[in-house]
Amino acid sequence: MAKKLHIKTYGCQMNVYDSERIAEVLAPIGFKLSDTADDADMVILNTCHIRERAAEKVFSELGRLRGKKAEKAAEGERMILGVTGCVAQAQGEEVTRRAPFVDLVFGPQTYHRLPEMVARAAREHGHVLDIDFPEDSKFDSLPPARTVKGAAAFLAVQEGCDKFCTYCVVPYTRGAEYSRPPEGVVAEAHTLVAAGAKEITLLGQNVNAYHGEAADGSGWNLARLIREVAEIEGLERIRYTTSYPAEMDDDLIAAHADTLKLMPYLHLPIQSGSDTVLNAMNRQHTGEEFKNVVKKLRAARPDIALSSDFIVGFPGETDADFEATLKLVEDVTFIQAYSFKYSARPGTPAALMDEQIPEAVKAERLARLQALLDTQSLDFNMRAVGQVFPVLFDRSGKLPGQLIGRSPYMQPVVVAASADLLHTIQNVTITQAGPNSLMGELVDDSQRACA
Ligand code: 5AD
Ligand code: SF4
Repeated sequence: MAKKLHIKTYGCQMNVYDSERIAEVLAPIGFKLSDTADDADMVILNTCHIRERAAEKVFSELGRLRGKKAEKAAEGERMILGVTGCVAQAQGEEVTRRAPFVDLVFGPQTYHRLPEMVARAAREHGHVLDIDFPEDSKFDSLPPARTVKGAAAFLAVQEGCDKFCTYCVVPYTRGAEYSRPPEGVVAEAHTLVAAGAKEITLLGQNVNAYHGEAADGSGWNLARLIREVAEIEGLERIRYTTSYPAEMDDDLIAAHADTLKLMPYLHLPIQSGSDTVLNAMNRQHTGEEFKNVVKKLRAARPDIALSSDFIVGFPGETDADFEATLKLVEDVTFIQAYSFKYSARPGTPAALMDEQIPEAVKAERLARLQALLDTQSLDFNMRAVGQVFPVLFDRSGKLPGQLIGRSPYMQPVVVAASADLLHTIQNVTITQAGPNSLMGELVDDSQRACA
Protein backbone atom coordinates (compact mmCIF):
# COMPACT_ATOMS: atom_id res chain seq x y z
CA MET A 1 0.00 0.00 0.00
CA ALA A 2 1.23 3.49 -0.81
CA LYS A 3 2.71 5.41 2.08
CA LYS A 4 1.41 8.94 2.65
CA LEU A 5 3.76 11.84 2.14
CA HIS A 6 2.90 15.38 3.19
CA ILE A 7 5.14 18.29 2.17
CA LYS A 8 4.61 21.76 3.59
CA THR A 9 6.36 24.45 1.56
CA TYR A 10 7.39 27.87 2.81
CA GLY A 11 8.98 30.77 0.97
CA CYS A 12 9.83 31.22 -2.67
CA GLN A 13 8.95 29.50 -5.95
CA MET A 14 12.26 27.64 -5.91
CA ASN A 15 11.01 25.85 -2.80
CA VAL A 16 7.74 25.03 -4.60
CA TYR A 17 9.80 23.52 -7.43
CA ASP A 18 12.02 21.59 -5.00
CA SER A 19 8.97 20.19 -3.20
CA GLU A 20 7.58 18.87 -6.49
CA ARG A 21 10.91 17.24 -7.25
CA ILE A 22 11.15 15.75 -3.75
CA ALA A 23 7.76 14.10 -4.29
CA GLU A 24 9.04 12.73 -7.62
CA VAL A 25 12.17 11.32 -5.94
CA LEU A 26 10.09 9.59 -3.26
CA ALA A 27 7.39 8.19 -5.57
CA PRO A 28 9.45 5.17 -6.73
CA ILE A 29 9.94 4.06 -3.12
CA GLY A 30 6.19 4.05 -2.50
CA PHE A 31 5.29 7.53 -1.23
CA LYS A 32 2.18 9.25 -2.52
CA LEU A 33 1.37 12.90 -1.84
CA SER A 34 -1.30 13.66 0.72
CA ASP A 35 -2.87 17.06 1.51
CA THR A 36 -2.64 16.62 5.25
CA ALA A 37 -0.03 15.78 7.86
CA ASP A 38 -2.63 13.77 9.81
CA ASP A 39 -1.83 10.13 9.51
CA ALA A 40 1.09 10.79 7.13
CA ASP A 41 3.97 8.31 7.07
CA MET A 42 6.37 11.08 6.19
CA VAL A 43 6.12 14.84 6.68
CA ILE A 44 8.67 17.18 5.14
CA LEU A 45 8.91 20.88 5.89
CA ASN A 46 10.57 22.75 3.04
CA THR A 47 11.67 25.86 4.84
CA CYS A 48 12.59 29.50 4.26
CA HIS A 49 15.29 31.43 6.09
CA ILE A 50 15.03 34.80 4.36
CA ARG A 51 13.50 36.69 7.29
CA GLU A 52 13.48 35.84 10.96
CA ARG A 53 9.72 35.25 11.09
CA ALA A 54 9.92 32.76 8.24
CA ALA A 55 12.47 30.67 10.16
CA GLU A 56 10.60 30.85 13.49
CA LYS A 57 7.42 29.53 11.84
CA VAL A 58 9.28 26.30 11.13
CA PHE A 59 10.11 25.67 14.77
CA SER A 60 6.51 26.25 15.84
CA GLU A 61 5.26 23.88 13.13
CA LEU A 62 7.77 21.28 14.32
CA GLY A 63 6.32 21.62 17.83
CA ARG A 64 2.87 20.75 16.45
CA LEU A 65 4.19 17.84 14.41
CA ARG A 66 5.92 16.36 17.44
CA GLY A 67 2.45 15.64 18.89
CA LYS A 68 1.27 13.95 15.69
CA LYS A 69 4.41 11.83 15.56
CA ALA A 70 3.83 10.74 19.18
CA GLU A 71 0.18 9.85 18.41
CA LYS A 72 1.32 7.72 15.51
CA ALA A 73 4.00 6.06 17.65
CA ALA A 74 1.32 5.22 20.27
CA GLU A 75 -0.42 3.24 17.53
CA GLY A 76 2.81 1.39 16.83
CA GLU A 77 3.47 3.26 13.58
CA ARG A 78 6.24 5.59 12.53
CA MET A 79 6.03 9.10 11.11
CA ILE A 80 9.29 10.16 9.49
CA LEU A 81 9.82 13.86 9.98
CA GLY A 82 12.12 15.72 7.59
CA VAL A 83 13.30 19.31 7.36
CA THR A 84 14.79 20.68 4.16
CA GLY A 85 15.18 24.06 2.46
CA CYS A 86 17.17 27.04 3.66
CA VAL A 87 16.61 26.63 7.43
CA ALA A 88 17.98 23.09 7.16
CA GLN A 89 20.95 24.35 5.18
CA ALA A 90 21.74 27.31 7.45
CA GLN A 91 20.79 25.87 10.83
CA GLY A 92 20.84 22.09 10.34
CA GLU A 93 22.64 21.42 13.61
CA GLU A 94 20.31 23.75 15.46
CA VAL A 95 17.27 21.95 14.04
CA THR A 96 18.55 18.63 15.39
CA ARG A 97 19.25 20.26 18.75
CA ARG A 98 15.99 22.18 19.14
CA ALA A 99 13.89 19.41 17.60
CA PRO A 100 15.67 16.12 18.32
CA PHE A 101 12.59 14.15 17.19
CA VAL A 102 13.29 15.19 13.56
CA ASP A 103 14.58 12.20 11.54
CA LEU A 104 15.99 13.79 8.39
CA VAL A 105 17.66 17.15 7.90
CA PHE A 106 18.77 17.75 4.33
CA GLY A 107 19.64 20.74 2.20
CA PRO A 108 18.27 21.89 -1.15
CA GLN A 109 21.25 20.35 -2.95
CA THR A 110 21.00 16.80 -1.58
CA TYR A 111 17.38 15.73 -1.89
CA HIS A 112 18.18 13.42 -4.80
CA ARG A 113 19.74 11.20 -2.11
CA LEU A 114 16.47 10.91 -0.18
CA PRO A 115 15.79 7.21 -0.85
CA GLU A 116 19.15 6.41 0.74
CA MET A 117 18.47 8.78 3.66
CA VAL A 118 15.05 7.23 4.27
CA ALA A 119 16.61 3.75 4.33
CA ARG A 120 19.25 4.93 6.80
CA ALA A 121 16.66 6.59 9.01
CA ALA A 122 14.71 3.30 9.10
CA ARG A 123 17.84 1.32 10.06
CA GLU A 124 19.46 3.67 12.51
CA HIS A 125 18.29 5.46 15.60
CA GLY A 126 18.78 9.21 15.72
CA HIS A 127 18.72 11.55 12.79
CA VAL A 128 20.30 11.68 9.34
CA LEU A 129 21.91 15.03 8.53
CA ASP A 130 22.91 15.75 4.92
CA ILE A 131 23.58 19.40 4.21
CA ASP A 132 26.55 19.13 1.84
CA PHE A 133 27.06 21.14 -1.29
CA PRO A 134 27.94 18.07 -3.41
CA GLU A 135 30.32 18.28 -6.36
CA ASP A 136 27.88 16.80 -8.83
CA SER A 137 24.60 18.54 -9.36
CA LYS A 138 21.36 16.99 -8.13
CA PHE A 139 19.92 17.67 -11.60
CA ASP A 140 22.04 14.82 -12.98
CA SER A 141 20.31 12.32 -10.68
CA LEU A 142 16.72 13.52 -10.47
CA PRO A 143 14.07 11.41 -12.24
CA PRO A 144 13.46 12.74 -15.78
CA ALA A 145 9.66 12.32 -15.55
CA ARG A 146 7.75 15.37 -14.38
CA THR A 147 4.22 15.72 -13.11
CA VAL A 148 2.31 18.93 -13.79
CA LYS A 149 -0.50 19.81 -11.40
CA GLY A 150 -2.08 22.73 -13.20
CA ALA A 151 -1.20 24.20 -16.55
CA ALA A 152 1.55 26.43 -15.17
CA ALA A 153 4.84 24.82 -14.20
CA PHE A 154 8.13 25.89 -12.65
CA LEU A 155 11.47 24.90 -14.09
CA ALA A 156 14.70 25.59 -12.19
CA VAL A 157 17.49 26.69 -14.53
CA GLN A 158 19.88 28.38 -12.15
CA GLU A 159 20.54 28.28 -8.45
CA GLY A 160 22.57 30.13 -5.88
CA CYS A 161 23.87 33.65 -5.78
CA ASP A 162 27.24 35.39 -5.83
CA LYS A 163 25.91 38.89 -5.28
CA PHE A 164 26.18 38.98 -1.49
CA CYS A 165 23.71 41.75 -0.78
CA THR A 166 24.62 42.59 2.80
CA TYR A 167 21.17 41.70 4.25
CA CYS A 168 20.67 38.38 2.46
CA VAL A 169 21.17 34.76 3.51
CA VAL A 170 20.74 33.25 0.04
CA PRO A 171 24.45 33.12 -0.93
CA TYR A 172 25.01 31.08 2.26
CA THR A 173 21.97 28.81 2.07
CA ARG A 174 21.88 28.21 -1.68
CA GLY A 175 25.59 28.47 -2.38
CA ALA A 176 27.45 29.85 -5.38
CA GLU A 177 25.75 30.58 -8.69
CA TYR A 178 25.23 27.47 -10.77
CA SER A 179 23.57 27.28 -14.19
CA ARG A 180 22.19 23.99 -15.46
CA PRO A 181 23.42 22.92 -18.90
CA PRO A 182 20.85 24.09 -21.48
CA GLU A 183 20.14 20.64 -22.94
CA GLY A 184 18.81 19.41 -19.57
CA VAL A 185 16.63 22.49 -19.21
CA VAL A 186 15.19 22.22 -22.71
CA ALA A 187 14.54 18.49 -22.25
CA GLU A 188 12.72 19.20 -18.97
CA ALA A 189 10.65 21.90 -20.69
CA HIS A 190 9.57 19.36 -23.33
CA THR A 191 8.63 16.88 -20.57
CA LEU A 192 6.57 19.56 -18.79
CA VAL A 193 4.70 20.51 -21.97
CA ALA A 194 4.04 16.85 -22.78
CA ALA A 195 2.61 16.52 -19.23
CA GLY A 196 0.20 19.43 -19.87
CA ALA A 197 2.09 22.64 -19.08
CA LYS A 198 0.95 25.65 -21.11
CA GLU A 199 3.07 28.08 -19.16
CA ILE A 200 6.60 27.63 -17.84
CA THR A 201 8.34 29.92 -15.40
CA LEU A 202 12.12 29.59 -15.58
CA LEU A 203 13.42 29.87 -12.04
CA GLY A 204 16.64 30.94 -10.42
CA GLN A 205 17.69 32.98 -7.40
CA ASN A 206 19.46 35.10 -9.97
CA VAL A 207 17.84 33.78 -13.09
CA ASN A 208 19.04 36.46 -15.48
CA ALA A 209 22.65 35.65 -14.54
CA TYR A 210 22.05 32.27 -16.26
CA HIS A 211 25.07 31.17 -18.28
CA GLY A 212 24.67 27.53 -19.20
CA GLU A 213 27.41 25.61 -20.92
CA ALA A 214 26.23 23.28 -23.68
CA ALA A 215 27.90 19.96 -24.55
CA ASP A 216 29.43 21.59 -27.65
CA GLY A 217 31.16 24.11 -25.39
CA SER A 218 28.97 27.06 -26.37
CA GLY A 219 27.71 29.40 -23.70
CA TRP A 220 24.00 30.17 -23.48
CA ASN A 221 22.55 33.23 -21.83
CA LEU A 222 18.97 33.44 -20.58
CA ALA A 223 17.76 35.13 -23.77
CA ARG A 224 18.96 32.18 -25.87
CA LEU A 225 17.38 29.71 -23.48
CA ILE A 226 14.05 31.57 -23.60
CA ARG A 227 14.07 31.66 -27.40
CA GLU A 228 14.80 27.93 -27.57
CA VAL A 229 12.08 27.04 -25.06
CA ALA A 230 9.66 29.28 -26.97
CA GLU A 231 10.03 26.95 -29.97
CA ILE A 232 8.25 24.15 -28.11
CA GLU A 233 4.90 23.52 -29.69
CA GLY A 234 2.02 23.56 -27.21
CA LEU A 235 3.81 25.89 -24.83
CA GLU A 236 2.02 29.22 -24.82
CA ARG A 237 3.59 31.36 -22.12
CA ILE A 238 7.06 31.87 -20.68
CA ARG A 239 8.06 33.81 -17.58
CA TYR A 240 11.27 34.00 -15.62
CA THR A 241 12.07 35.01 -12.07
CA THR A 242 13.89 36.38 -10.02
CA SER A 243 16.07 38.87 -11.85
CA TYR A 244 18.90 41.08 -10.68
CA PRO A 245 18.72 44.58 -12.22
CA ALA A 246 22.42 44.79 -13.11
CA GLU A 247 22.16 41.50 -15.05
CA MET A 248 19.40 42.71 -17.42
CA ASP A 249 21.54 42.63 -20.56
CA ASP A 250 20.46 43.98 -23.94
CA ASP A 251 19.90 40.53 -25.42
CA LEU A 252 17.44 39.65 -22.67
CA ILE A 253 15.68 42.98 -23.14
CA ALA A 254 15.53 42.26 -26.89
CA ALA A 255 13.92 38.88 -26.14
CA HIS A 256 10.99 40.81 -24.67
CA ALA A 257 10.51 42.40 -28.09
CA ASP A 258 11.08 39.36 -30.31
CA THR A 259 9.61 36.47 -28.29
CA LEU A 260 5.85 36.80 -28.15
CA LYS A 261 5.45 33.91 -25.73
CA LEU A 262 7.44 35.86 -23.15
CA MET A 263 4.79 37.49 -20.96
CA PRO A 264 4.81 41.30 -20.57
CA TYR A 265 5.36 41.14 -16.83
CA LEU A 266 8.65 41.19 -14.99
CA HIS A 267 9.59 40.92 -11.33
CA LEU A 268 12.63 43.14 -10.84
CA PRO A 269 13.59 43.78 -7.22
CA ILE A 270 15.01 47.22 -6.45
CA GLN A 271 14.94 47.14 -2.59
CA SER A 272 15.46 50.90 -2.11
CA GLY A 273 15.37 54.14 -4.08
CA SER A 274 18.31 55.67 -2.22
CA ASP A 275 21.79 55.24 -3.70
CA THR A 276 23.34 55.48 -0.22
CA VAL A 277 21.21 52.56 0.95
CA LEU A 278 21.71 50.59 -2.28
CA ASN A 279 25.44 51.00 -1.79
CA ALA A 280 25.28 49.88 1.85
CA MET A 281 23.24 46.90 0.66
CA ASN A 282 26.03 46.10 -1.83
CA ARG A 283 23.51 46.21 -4.68
CA GLN A 284 25.61 46.76 -7.76
CA HIS A 285 23.33 49.37 -9.29
CA THR A 286 21.95 52.82 -8.57
CA GLY A 287 18.37 54.01 -8.74
CA GLU A 288 19.14 55.73 -12.04
CA GLU A 289 20.59 52.56 -13.56
CA PHE A 290 17.47 50.70 -12.52
CA LYS A 291 15.28 53.33 -14.19
CA ASN A 292 17.39 53.04 -17.30
CA VAL A 293 16.79 49.29 -17.50
CA VAL A 294 13.06 49.94 -17.09
CA LYS A 295 13.18 52.50 -19.89
CA LYS A 296 14.85 50.02 -22.23
CA LEU A 297 12.37 47.29 -21.31
CA ARG A 298 9.45 49.62 -22.01
CA ALA A 299 10.97 50.59 -25.34
CA ALA A 300 11.28 46.89 -26.25
CA ARG A 301 7.84 45.90 -24.99
CA PRO A 302 5.63 48.96 -24.39
CA ASP A 303 2.99 47.01 -22.46
CA ILE A 304 5.46 45.48 -19.99
CA ALA A 305 4.39 45.80 -16.35
CA LEU A 306 6.74 45.54 -13.41
CA SER A 307 6.69 44.21 -9.92
CA SER A 308 9.41 44.58 -7.33
CA ASP A 309 10.71 43.88 -3.81
CA PHE A 310 11.47 46.55 -1.23
CA ILE A 311 13.15 46.55 2.15
CA VAL A 312 12.42 49.43 4.53
CA GLY A 313 14.44 50.26 7.62
CA PHE A 314 17.78 48.96 6.40
CA PRO A 315 20.48 50.01 8.93
CA GLY A 316 21.24 53.72 8.54
CA GLU A 317 18.17 54.45 6.35
CA THR A 318 17.25 58.10 6.97
CA ASP A 319 13.93 59.81 6.34
CA ALA A 320 15.48 61.27 3.17
CA ASP A 321 16.56 57.81 2.00
CA PHE A 322 13.05 56.54 2.55
CA GLU A 323 11.56 59.50 0.69
CA ALA A 324 13.86 58.57 -2.23
CA THR A 325 12.24 55.13 -2.27
CA LEU A 326 8.76 56.68 -2.43
CA LYS A 327 9.95 58.95 -5.22
CA LEU A 328 11.35 56.04 -7.22
CA VAL A 329 8.06 54.16 -6.85
CA GLU A 330 6.19 57.21 -8.10
CA ASP A 331 8.55 57.61 -11.05
CA VAL A 332 8.60 53.96 -12.15
CA THR A 333 5.16 52.60 -11.09
CA PHE A 334 4.78 48.95 -10.17
CA ILE A 335 1.67 46.87 -10.60
CA GLN A 336 2.60 44.50 -7.79
CA ALA A 337 5.18 44.52 -5.02
CA TYR A 338 6.46 42.70 -1.99
CA SER A 339 7.73 44.99 0.73
CA PHE A 340 9.34 44.00 3.98
CA LYS A 341 10.77 45.45 7.15
CA TYR A 342 14.48 44.81 7.29
CA SER A 343 15.13 41.69 9.35
CA ALA A 344 18.66 41.15 10.71
CA ARG A 345 19.89 37.71 9.68
CA PRO A 346 22.71 36.05 11.62
CA GLY A 347 25.92 35.77 9.63
CA THR A 348 25.12 38.61 7.20
CA PRO A 349 27.16 41.85 7.27
CA ALA A 350 24.14 44.14 7.73
CA ALA A 351 23.22 42.41 10.99
CA LEU A 352 26.41 43.89 12.49
CA MET A 353 25.94 47.40 11.11
CA ASP A 354 25.45 50.36 13.44
CA GLU A 355 22.28 52.39 13.28
CA GLN A 356 19.76 49.59 13.28
CA ILE A 357 16.35 51.21 12.78
CA PRO A 358 13.72 51.02 15.56
CA GLU A 359 10.77 48.69 14.89
CA ALA A 360 8.23 51.52 15.10
CA VAL A 361 10.01 53.50 12.39
CA LYS A 362 10.20 50.43 10.16
CA ALA A 363 6.49 49.78 10.68
CA GLU A 364 5.53 53.35 9.84
CA ARG A 365 7.68 53.40 6.69
CA LEU A 366 6.33 50.05 5.58
CA ALA A 367 2.74 51.24 5.96
CA ARG A 368 3.44 54.38 3.90
CA LEU A 369 5.23 52.46 1.16
CA GLN A 370 2.54 49.81 0.98
CA ALA A 371 -0.21 52.43 0.79
CA LEU A 372 1.50 53.96 -2.24
CA LEU A 373 2.14 50.59 -3.89
CA ASP A 374 -1.49 49.59 -3.29
CA THR A 375 -2.76 52.67 -5.13
CA GLN A 376 -0.55 51.74 -8.09
CA SER A 377 -1.80 48.16 -8.29
CA LEU A 378 -5.44 49.22 -7.88
CA ASP A 379 -4.96 51.84 -10.57
CA PHE A 380 -3.49 49.23 -12.95
CA ASN A 381 -6.36 46.83 -12.21
CA MET A 382 -8.97 49.56 -12.78
CA ARG A 383 -7.45 50.38 -16.13
CA ALA A 384 -7.98 46.75 -17.17
CA VAL A 385 -11.77 47.15 -17.07
CA GLY A 386 -13.14 46.99 -20.61
CA GLN A 387 -9.99 45.35 -21.99
CA VAL A 388 -9.79 41.80 -23.32
CA PHE A 389 -7.08 39.61 -21.77
CA PRO A 390 -6.11 36.04 -22.61
CA VAL A 391 -6.54 34.16 -19.32
CA LEU A 392 -4.97 30.80 -18.46
CA PHE A 393 -7.46 29.03 -16.20
CA ASP A 394 -5.59 27.13 -13.53
CA ARG A 395 -8.09 26.46 -10.71
CA SER A 396 -11.76 26.38 -9.80
CA GLY A 397 -13.35 29.44 -8.25
CA LYS A 398 -15.07 29.67 -4.87
CA LEU A 399 -18.55 29.44 -6.41
CA PRO A 400 -19.77 26.59 -8.61
CA GLY A 401 -19.40 27.36 -12.31
CA GLN A 402 -16.43 29.67 -11.73
CA LEU A 403 -12.85 29.34 -12.85
CA ILE A 404 -9.87 31.45 -11.85
CA GLY A 405 -6.97 32.12 -14.15
CA ARG A 406 -4.06 34.48 -14.68
CA SER A 407 -3.87 37.39 -17.05
CA PRO A 408 -0.56 38.01 -18.85
CA TYR A 409 0.21 40.41 -15.97
CA MET A 410 -0.35 37.70 -13.33
CA GLN A 411 -3.61 39.22 -12.08
CA PRO A 412 -6.06 36.55 -10.89
CA VAL A 413 -9.22 36.74 -13.03
CA VAL A 414 -12.50 35.20 -11.84
CA VAL A 415 -14.85 34.13 -14.65
CA ALA A 416 -18.06 32.12 -15.03
CA ALA A 417 -16.83 29.28 -17.23
CA SER A 418 -17.41 25.57 -17.53
CA ALA A 419 -14.95 23.19 -15.91
CA ASP A 420 -13.78 21.81 -19.25
CA LEU A 421 -12.02 25.14 -19.85
CA LEU A 422 -9.69 24.45 -16.93
CA HIS A 423 -6.05 24.53 -18.13
CA THR A 424 -6.94 26.38 -21.34
CA ILE A 425 -6.34 29.98 -22.39
CA GLN A 426 -9.49 31.98 -23.24
CA ASN A 427 -10.14 35.59 -24.12
CA VAL A 428 -11.90 37.38 -21.30
CA THR A 429 -13.42 40.87 -21.18
CA ILE A 430 -12.59 42.43 -17.84
CA THR A 431 -15.73 43.76 -16.17
CA GLN A 432 -14.66 44.65 -12.61
CA ALA A 433 -11.45 45.29 -10.73
CA GLY A 434 -10.47 45.04 -7.07
CA PRO A 435 -7.11 45.59 -5.35
CA ASN A 436 -6.03 41.96 -5.76
CA SER A 437 -8.11 40.47 -8.55
CA LEU A 438 -10.29 41.04 -11.60
CA MET A 439 -13.68 39.74 -12.68
CA GLY A 440 -14.46 39.06 -16.32
CA GLU A 441 -16.67 37.42 -18.92
CA LEU A 442 -15.69 34.99 -21.64
CA VAL A 443 -15.62 36.70 -25.02
CA ASP A 444 -17.01 33.54 -26.60
CA ASP A 445 -20.26 33.17 -24.66
CA SER A 446 -21.10 29.76 -25.97
CA GLN A 447 -18.48 28.52 -23.51
CA ARG A 448 -20.02 30.12 -20.43
CA ALA A 449 -21.11 27.79 -17.67
CA CYS A 450 -24.81 27.31 -17.00
CA ALA A 451 -25.41 28.77 -13.55
N1 5AD B 1 15.17 41.46 5.61
C1 5AD B 1 14.05 41.84 4.93
N2 5AD B 1 13.78 41.45 3.68
C2 5AD B 1 14.69 40.66 3.07
N3 5AD B 1 14.72 40.15 1.84
C3 5AD B 1 15.85 39.42 1.70
N4 5AD B 1 16.56 39.46 2.84
C4 5AD B 1 15.86 40.24 3.70
C5 5AD B 1 16.09 40.66 5.03
N5 5AD B 1 17.19 40.30 5.71
C6 5AD B 1 13.70 40.41 0.83
C7 5AD B 1 14.28 41.13 -0.39
C8 5AD B 1 14.31 40.05 -1.43
C9 5AD B 1 13.09 39.22 -1.03
C10 5AD B 1 13.05 37.85 -1.57
O1 5AD B 1 13.16 39.18 0.38
O2 5AD B 1 13.40 42.17 -0.77
O3 5AD B 1 14.22 40.54 -2.75
FE1 SF4 C 1 19.99 37.76 -1.99
FE2 SF4 C 1 21.00 39.84 -3.34
FE3 SF4 C 1 21.44 37.34 -4.20
FE4 SF4 C 1 18.99 38.41 -4.40
S1 SF4 C 1 20.84 39.14 -5.45
S2 SF4 C 1 19.50 36.33 -3.65
S3 SF4 C 1 18.87 39.65 -2.55
S4 SF4 C 1 22.19 38.22 -2.30
